[in-house]
Amino acid sequence: MSKRFFITTAIDYLNGQPHLGHAYEKVITDVIARARRSFGDDVFFLTGLDEHGQKVQQAAESEGKSPQAYCDELAKDWRALAEKLGLSNNDFIRTTEERHRRVVQAALSKLHAGGHVYKATYKGFYSTKEETFLTEKDRRPDGTFDPCYGEVVELEEDNYYFKLDDHQQWLIDYIESNPDFIYPSTRRNEVLGFLKNNALEDLCITRPALRLNWGIPLPFEKDFVTYVWFDALVNYITVPASHGDPTVLAVLDGIADPKLSTLGSQPPALLWPADIHVVGKDIVKFHAVYWPILLKKMGLALPKQLIVHGWWQKDGQKMSKSTGNVVDPIAVIDEWGLDAFRFYVVRELDIGPDGNWTNAGFQARYQAELANGLGNLVNRSLSMLKRYRNGVVPARSDELADDAAKTLQVAVSNYREHKLQLAVQNIWLLITRANQYVDQTAPFKLAKDPSQASRLDEILYNLAEICRVLAVLLWPVLPSSADKIFAQLNLSTAPDKMTAAAWGGLAPGHMIGEPSALFPRKDQPASAISSSSSK
Ligand code: ME8
Ligand code: MG
Repeated sequence: MSKRFFITTAIDYLNGQPHLGHAYEKVITDVIARARRSFGDDVFFLTGLDEHGQKVQQAAESEGKSPQAYCDELAKDWRALAEKLGLSNNDFIRTTEERHRRVVQAALSKLHAGGHVYKATYKGFYSTKEETFLTEKDRRPDGTFDPCYGEVVELEEDNYYFKLDDHQQWLIDYIESNPDFIYPSTRRNEVLGFLKNNALEDLCITRPALRLNWGIPLPFEKDFVTYVWFDALVNYITVPASHGDPTVLAVLDGIADPKLSTLGSQPPALLWPADIHVVGKDIVKFHAVYWPILLKKMGLALPKQLIVHGWWQKDGQKMSKSTGNVVDPIAVIDEWGLDAFRFYVVRELDIGPDGNWTNAGFQARYQAELANGLGNLVNRSLSMLKRYRNGVVPARSDELADDAAKTLQVAVSNYREHKLQLAVQNIWLLITRANQYVDQTAPFKLAKDPSQASRLDEILYNLAEICRVLAVLLWPVLPSSADKIFAQLNLSTAPDKMTAAAWGGLAPGHMIGEPSALFPRKDQPASAISSSSSK
């Protein structure tokens, strides 16, 4: 059995409804997961929910519900989003699950036994909103804390701490000698800059149960619950453990309890180390500093790569529930279709910088690139084949074969390097080329002249075949449109293997199916995306 390609998203806090930012992260992770599957990798894609902590406890209280009941209800909406986004995830973790409690407690016991955890009294300023103690460095020049921290209160309490400072130099060396560990390199440089200019303070990994009880109890002192961030990070090994991964089970002493397995009689999965953790820029420190040191002290290998994406704004402003300035991905998908949403977020924003959603920008790309670009190419190519040749594929012709081969080559390397925006741009160059080919060769004119029949055959073959190739190239980003193109071509295979993008797959004599619009043109202003701002 060989190790699977293990890719994860951050797990979202269950303290409200999902928005564009959460959906974006899940979509780009799904695109990478699908691309790797298409290349033949055996991918395991994990996503899920972060359900403990003060924010969730407070949100539940404000609705007059028990935290568990609150989480169970809201988790349904978040799972529904995962489905709505077409995610190809293999597991979905909720940190309130029993399998997770066991792994967190085993990890804590292991670190405690290894002398990596100690108890101390701490007095300091605490931000409930960010679930973190603030330091003098977090103060603004006027002495106050940034409003992003919400209410800040002074606390004095006993807690358990996880030692970090003994591994600071080790981490710097690790990041320096593994240039791909943090992608893109701008984020890597930020982490290195931080580590070289600040002494790491030990991480407080508990909260007194009196103050906060919505968490996993410490296995060695029941008056404390585990700090939500420690709890959350461990999800990445809970799932391997629960799928019987021997690497993880070996370090979690005493956890090899068969009831942990969610798999029944399925063979164990080899998952750890993770190949990729996809996270937003605001949580880099947790993943690039705390998590590696935790793993090192547990005796586990580090994840191979962190992919750090930027943040979306709407109309140039932070998305905020209180002002109603949010993009609701479900409303957009309901009105425009799933692939239109997936396309826009991938095409608009490279992985790394921040992005800005505007309804006008969304509609412009829908019209120009989806309806008039891809949709028009597929529709007219297949309609002409239907009209002029009764839908029967003519003899093979290779006029566009080189263009297709070049695009395949660059798109594959773009996907491999997580340059998803570039992959889409390059694939669109092929779409534009093929649409120009229609205009230049004018098959609709040739069809009127019987002496041009064999030239028309060549053109119709090239067009139908380019549609097939495009479906394969685009499947990671636009899985349902790719499936529709294959269905319209009346192919019984799926467009989910990149090897199928080799030219010449369409067999002469094959009868295609019925063409229909992939992206119907919309002339009315979009009601869903404009009304989502008033929610
Ligand atoms: O941080 N644009 O959860 P979270 C892009 N539970 N991405 C955004 C975004 C935006 N406007 N807003 C949020 C947590 N995100 C923890 C994670 S992982 C072990 C624990 C991203 O619900 C954010 O960057 O606040 C993060 O990666 C993810 O959504 C979940 O954010
Ligand atoms: Mg957040």
